[in-house]
Amino acid sequence: MVDIEFVRSRFVKHFDGKTGNVYASPGRINLIGEHTDYNGGFVFPGAVDKGVVAEMRANGTEDTVMAYAIDLKDRVDFKLSDPNGPKASWSRYIYGIALEMKKLGVPVKGFNIAFSGDVPLGAGMSSSAAMESCFACGLNDIFGENKVSQWDMVLAGQATEHNYCGVNCGIMDQFASVFGKAGCLMRLDCRSREFEYFPFKPDGYRLVLLDSVVKHQLAGSPYNDRRNSCENVVKHIQAAHPEGKFETLRDCTWEQLEEVKDAVGAEDYKRAKFVLGEKDRVLAVCDALNEGDYEKVGEMMYKTHEGLSKDYEVSCEELDFLNDIAKENGVTGSRIMGGGFGGCTINLVRNDLYKKFIEDAKKRFNEKYGHEPKVYDVIIGDGSRKLC
Ligand code: GLA
Repeated sequence: MVDIEFVRSRFVKHFDGKTGNVYASPGRINLIGEHTDYNGGFVFPGAVDKGVVAEMRANGTEDTVMAYAIDLKDRVDFKLSDPNGPKASWSRYIYGIALEMKKLGVPVKGFNIAFSGDVPLGAGMSSSAAMESCFACGLNDIFGENKVSQWDMVLAGQATEHNYCGVNCGIMDQFASVFGKAGCLMRLDCRSREFEYFPFKPDGYRLVLLDSVVKHQLAGSPYNDRRNSCENVVKHIQAAHPEGKFETLRDCTWEQLEEVKDAVGAEDYKRAKFVLGEKDRVLAVCDALNEGDYEKVGEMMYKTHEGLSKDYEVSCEELDFLNDIAKENGVTGSRIMGGGFGGCTINLVRNDLYKKFIEDAKKRFNEKYGHEPKVYDVIIGDGSRKLC
């Protein structure tokens, strides 16, 4: 996690010398359940020990925000009343979340903010959700007497993506960032929003991320196209079954998907096929975890990778290569993690194979792409909180 004193020193230097309150929110991993959140399915994320730390303070103005992105050395001032908001992509998260918190009844006024993060950007670990939930936590505390519930902060973060950043994401990332708990993964039912903490201590195994360092950019990207494909399939199934209520692919069966196969076209069919399979795999992983059957967990992870690569088509050459290396090294489970189009693989690996796997992955990836993948050992950390 970013050092508080470092953030504080920048906050004091770039504004009026006064200190504020400091908040932290994490990025996330996801064991399994990819692209299921906006389809009403299950996800299995956990918060990580990397995140965003922000110092914030009301500045006495009606609606002027002075914001400093420490890592980018970029300062942007804007007014909350400006209907267009600021342009810099990082500042859209501050502008967006402030307006969404206002919609929830928080009387947000002008404030100063400086922040820094250590979630690798574009790695599929939700650096953007870490920002949204961190800023939401701060605004709720400074202006809202902490009256906004955790779930409403999750939804405010998601609405920020939809309304100000151009990504029609689901709720997994913001949920994990707000509700995370050290040592626990969480199984969330994205339709009912019920969730359960799962202590995750896989005896003899560990989770490690290999970052291909291929940038992923979800805004205005094929991510939204994937979501549209899923919604199109649901529309067709609903039309074929007017007696039923079909809101998302969660409500649809394999048989119903087959019925509309020709009508929806080959591409949308493949997308929905992946989602239905993934829905089943998350539940299979829960059972396997309850039984301590990590080999089964790993098997499901490889299946997810295959589906994400061939049917959902959100992988890329580099990630498929990392997945092959994992398989060849006897790694228990491996798959692309997060939205896709670059980023990381998540790997469940036996302790005794870890060293050789990492060495082999670094060497072969470097030979092929001219740089090593980055390696992040997963430590499951806490969710959004006030540090001081
Ligand atoms: C991104 C989105 C999430 C989720 C994942 C894929 O991280 O923000 O809502 O859809 O992709 O599982």
